[in-house]
Amino acid sequence: MSEAVTPGVDMMATEAGAAVGEAVNRFTQQHECLDVRLRAHLLAVAGADFGRAVRHLARWRRALDRHIAIEETHLLPHVPDGARWAARVYRLEHRRIEDLAHDYAAKVQAVAARPPQGWRATREAVLALLDGAHSLRHVIEHHHEREQMALAVELTPEVQEAAWRMPAAAPADFSRIGP
Ligand SMILES: [Fe+2]
Ligand SMILES: [Fe+2]
Repeated sequence: MSEAVTPGVDMMATEAGAAVGEAVNRFTQQHECLDVRLRAHLLAVAGADFGRAVRHLARWRRALDRHIAIEETHLLPHVPDGARWAARVYRLEHRRIEDLAHDYAAKVQAVAARPPQGWRATREAVLALLDGAHSLRHVIEHHHEREQMALAVELTPEVQEAAWRMPAAAPADFSRIGP
């Protein structure tokens, strides 16, 4: 015999699930926006356009700082008891990302300040920067996964909605990011 389904309860479960799904999507969208900016920087590095790479990296860093500030001010204080990871874990990862970003930016600026001469030196400089970005990208990727898997599901959709409505949040339309 099949279990009886209570239409009202079923509808509430569906609506709650949809709200959580929307919250996860919003978090993912914010992270994708950061990824688009970092990718613009990496494309400039790959093309050995180091001045452009510095500018794109600075834009990404400003967006990253705004993103982290929103999370730490408007989201992490609401991490519930029994959450998969405590707010402290996310804050520690933010400090790690900031340290890696700072060190990597210093490398990019050093190359831009004294551009390599000749095709071989240029290719080696490009390769060194792409290698240098590796650990930063790796840590960011895991951090984003952790937030999307846990934080976006554990925080109420209302808290997330309010946070990502902040003027400093990334635009929903990536075309507004600019070249
Ligand atoms: Fe974060
Ligand atoms: Fe995040």
